[in-house]
Amino acid sequence: MDDLREKYLALISAAGDEATLEDVRVRAVGKKGEISLKMRELGKMTPDERQVAGPALNALKTEINSAISAQKSALADAALEERLKSEWLDVTLPSRPRPAGTIHPISQVTEEVTAIFADMGFAVAEGPQIESDWYNFDALNIPSHHPARAEMDTFYMHRDAGDNRPPHVLRTHTSPVQIRSMQQRGAPIRVICPGRVYRCDYDQTHTPMFHQVEGLAIDTDISMANLKWCLEEFVRSYFEVDDVELRFRASHFPFTEPSAEVDIRCSWDKGQLKVGEGDDWLEILGSGMVHPKVLNAGGIDPEKYQGFAFGLGIDRIAMLKYGIPDLRAFFDSDLRWLRHYGFASLDQPTVHAGLSR
Ligand code: DAH
Repeated sequence: MDDLREKYLALISAAGDEATLEDVRVRAVGKKGEISLKMRELGKMTPDERQVAGPALNALKTEINSAISAQKSALADAALEERLKSEWLDVTLPSRPRPAGTIHPISQVTEEVTAIFADMGFAVAEGPQIESDWYNFDALNIPSHHPARAEMDTFYMHRDAGDNRPPHVLRTHTSPVQIRSMQQRGAPIRVICPGRVYRCDYDQTHTPMFHQVEGLAIDTDISMANLKWCLEEFVRSYFEVDDVELRFRASHFPFTEPSAEVDIRCSWDKGQLKVGEGDDWLEILGSGMVHPKVLNAGGIDPEKYQGFAFGLGIDRIAMLKYGIPDLRAFFDSDLRWLRHYGFASLDQPTVHAGLSR
């Protein structure tokens, strides 16, 4: 009995994994295990012998069983220990790094504006930044000696002496894309044209390169009322407020007749702009009904079609919405500024999910 005991206790403590341990258990106390067989032999013993051997065998079986379960839990503990060691995690480490870049406010606002007008059925059109003076001026009813040409502080492309071809300019506004879109797509048409424009000007609210969005809607039954609704809808969505009052002020642009400049009701509280309330008005865009001469230049029959157009400064509405005081900082590429005013690169602005979360 002592031999059995020693043999199995040694085997149990030597078992390095559960399978080996189970093997030992079967060999010792399983149905045909050595100890079980010994217990069967009890029947062949004399009552005296049985009285001694019976309890001793039972005690041995109990001892072996408890040694097995002790070893089993020791093995489980060791396995857990091992796993904890390999899966060790330093919870004090910083979390997964954020993407290093941010979306520039101009890109963000361009996306926001595009999302809003896309919801109203406007497609996006683009045109070249180096533009012929015909597209930039003549086609828009700004002939050579029109004062508007001088007012625009135009950058002219270099021409060699004696080169008498019509000059090219860095486009001074996105309005030439109106003409190109009409020529390419015909009527009816609904487009917005976001992009870079250039004028020779530099101060807190002017940079030689800035951004505009042009809007154009042409059909057989379009009126100023449609223009007004679209712009109100746009301003409400863009500034993310329920109510905005717009003021249409009679104005003059060569490419629209009648023309209106649009102001929004606002207040300035300690330099903080609030849109939709207060006693101030803020000019945000120019607009009007497209001039028949402009329709003609775009190859569209003004007897049959009419429509509205508007032009709006992206940088300006970005400054207003996001409280950015100096336009020049937009283009300084200062990383601290970009991190502060930039937007999360994976948040796509949409009208239904929110523009500027
Ligand atoms: N092109 C004008 C500018 O750059 C803005 C503008 C005003 C565009 C009225 C339009 C418009 O389409 O109808 O100042």
